[in-house]
Amino acid sequence: FGTLVAGIVAVCVLSCGAMAQQAQPIVIKFSHVVAPDTPKGKAAEYFKKLAEERTKGRVKVEVFPNSMLYKDKEELEALQLGAAQMLAPSLAKFGPLGIKEFEVFDLPYIFPSKDVLRAVTGGPVGASLLKKLETKGIIGLAYWDNGFKILSANKPLISPADLKGLKMRIQSSKVLDAEMRALNAQPQPIAFSEVYQALLTGVVNGTENPPSNMYTQKMHEVQKHATLTNHGYLGYAVIVNKKFWDSLPSDIRAILEGAMSEATVYANAIAQAENDDALKAMKASGKTEFHDPTPAELEVWRKTLLPVHRDMENRVGKDLIESFYREAI
Ligand code: LMR
Repeated sequence: FGTLVAGIVAVCVLSCGAMAQQAQPIVIKFSHVVAPDTPKGKAAEYFKKLAEERTKGRVKVEVFPNSMLYKDKEELEALQLGAAQMLAPSLAKFGPLGIKEFEVFDLPYIFPSKDVLRAVTGGPVGASLLKKLETKGIIGLAYWDNGFKILSANKPLISPADLKGLKMRIQSSKVLDAEMRALNAQPQPIAFSEVYQALLTGVVNGTENPPSNMYTQKMHEVQKHATLTNHGYLGYAVIVNKKFWDSLPSDIRAILEGAMSEATVYANAIAQAENDDALKAMKASGKTEFHDPTPAELEVWRKTLLPVHRDMENRVGKDLIESFYREAI
């Protein structure tokens, strides 16, 4: 009898173990640095929902917003090491990884419209940029929008001359460094998670970001003025660890690719409204005064910033810049 019980127990242990193993979901840690209530934050949650529903629990997506798991630089290292599986860093943050070309997106006034942007990211140029990531053990799945950046500080920024000498926080992009130098400001790369504190304590005097980031990080509480220059684009590449992605069962990968396509449509559909709402909310708060430049003022900003394209030819590639121009014709 004792042997029989032991046998039953053994069978159960084996089969229960196997069942438990089967039920173990594939976990995707999706780390990002912005608030949940932003275009990227919402799109990450939407991807999670679709991915989990459609794989019927075989995939679990854990979204970590607000740099709670990793900050800017760390998240890229974590992805390469396989500690995180999915990220959506801004296109301005790939330089430290050794891929400078994405900084073309940072060139001031490079996109005359969202249509041109879409033509670039949805076409062969966008695809070939994502392909470059593979040499770093990364696969680029999609481009997600945030929006166009505005400039802020504690003094009015009516013309480029107003930035002279100001310490301005930037993302870690050489193009953004050149942009701030063209304005005679002093650029300082700082991780996104530290920007609010840096503005509060005066480590920097101002910054640039789309309204949605400015609002959700409460930067408007520590910036008295902002100007709606819309001078540069902020968008993301959704990326995954290549080894992880290639190791997925092909049916699962196909479902996740479908979920990503839909999350991308969603991200790009909500981004503008998210930024419009954030700007409205900041205006209503009365903490920051927003200046909407006249066409003549805008022309001065453009004239001052456009030479950055030429200056950065060596950094991002003349041909690449020209391929962006061609989409605008
Ligand atoms: C920034 O650092 O300003 C942005 O890249 C943050 C983000 O992910 O939108």
